[in-house]
Amino acid sequence: MSDSNHQFFRLKASGILRSREDDFTSLCFEVGAAGVAEDLPFVQRDLRYDPDVLETPTLDANVYFTEAPGESAVLKIQGEFPDAKLEVFTEENRDWLTEWKKGFKPFRFAGDFWIVPSWCEVPPEAPRDAAKILYVEPGMAFGTGTHETTRLAAGYVIEESLRSRPHSLLDVGTGTGVLALVAHRLGAQDVVGIDNDPEARRTARENLDLNKESGIAIPDQNLEDIQQEYDVVVANIIDGVLTLLKHDLTRVLKPGGRMILSGILMDREGEFYEDFTSSTGLKLIKKTHDGEWSAAILEKAK
Ligand SMILES: C[S@@+](CC[C@H](N)C(=O)[O-])C[C@H]1O[C@@H](n2cnc3c(N)ncnc32)[C@H](O)[C@@H]1O
Repeated sequence: MSDSNHQFFRLKASGILRSREDDFTSLCFEVGAAGVAEDLPFVQRDLRYDPDVLETPTLDANVYFTEAPGESAVLKIQGEFPDAKLEVFTEENRDWLTEWKKGFKPFRFAGDFWIVPSWCEVPPEAPRDAAKILYVEPGMAFGTGTHETTRLAAGYVIEESLRSRPHSLLDVGTGTGVLALVAHRLGAQDVVGIDNDPEARRTARENLDLNKESGIAIPDQNLEDIQQEYDVVVANIIDGVLTLLKHDLTRVLKPGGRMILSGILMDREGEFYEDFTSSTGLKLIKKTHDGEWSAAILEKAK
C-alpha cells in the first residue's frame, strides 16, 4: 500500500492528439486516475496583459493517482496511445505553508523598516522603534516584502513620504497591505488600500490588526469606484494591468501629486513609460530597477 498521506503519483503524458482527448481522459479514469489536468503553455505577448493559451496540435497532460499506477495501467494507456510519451513521477505531498514558514525569517525590508513574520520574535539587530517593525502573516496574498517589486515600491513610498509629507495615499493592489502600512507609519493620515482580490483584502485587514493599525481603510471597492483624489497613489501591479488602469490611476491623483508604479518588466519599460506618460500627461520624475523589475515616480501637473 502506498503512503498516500505523503505521496501521490503523476503520470506525465505528452503528445496526445487533440482529436483523442476525451478517449484519453476516459481511459485514465478507467485505469484508476484521480484527476487529469492539461499542462498548458502560456504566453504574454504584450502590454495588454492578455495571457493567451497557445493552441497546440497535441495535448500534454498530468494524470494524478493516489496509488502508484501499476505497470498494466501504464501499458494499457501506451497501447491505446502508442505515439504518446509517458513518464511516472512520485511526488511528495508536503504542507507547503508550514515548509515555507520555516524558511521565512525577519529581514530588513526598506529604509529602516523590518518585516517580521507574525510567528517570530523581533531580532536584536532590528530597530528598537516599534513603528519600524512590520508584522506580516502572509495568508494567500502577495506582499511579504521579499519580492523586488515590493521593495522598489516601498523605497519610493519612504522617499516620497519624507520629501512631501503627504496627507493622503491610495495603495492600489494592496496585497498584504505592507505599502499602506509604511506610508501610515511615516505620517500619512488618510491611507486607503484597495485590491480586487477578496482574499487579499481579508489578509490586509488581518495584517493591519496584527500591527495594531486602525487608521488604514481597506474598503470593498474597485479603483473605478474611488472618487477621492490622493496626494500619492502607489500601484505595484504587473505592467499590463497598470496600462489598463492608467486613466483611473491618474484620475484619483491630485494635481501636483505623485504616482509610484512598480511591477514593470525591464524588457518592456521603454514602451511602457512612453505609453503611460503620453496617454496620461504625467511626467516621469525618476525610475530605478532591481533585477528584471522597474519602478518609477511620476508627477501630475498642478
Ligand atoms: C504584485 S501584488 C502587490 C502587493 C503589494 N502591494 C506589494 O507591493 O507587495 C499586486 C496586487 O494587485 C492586485 N490587483 C491586480 N489587479 C488589480 C486591479 N485591477 N485592481 C486592484 N487590485 C488589483 C492583486 O490582487 C495583488 O494583490
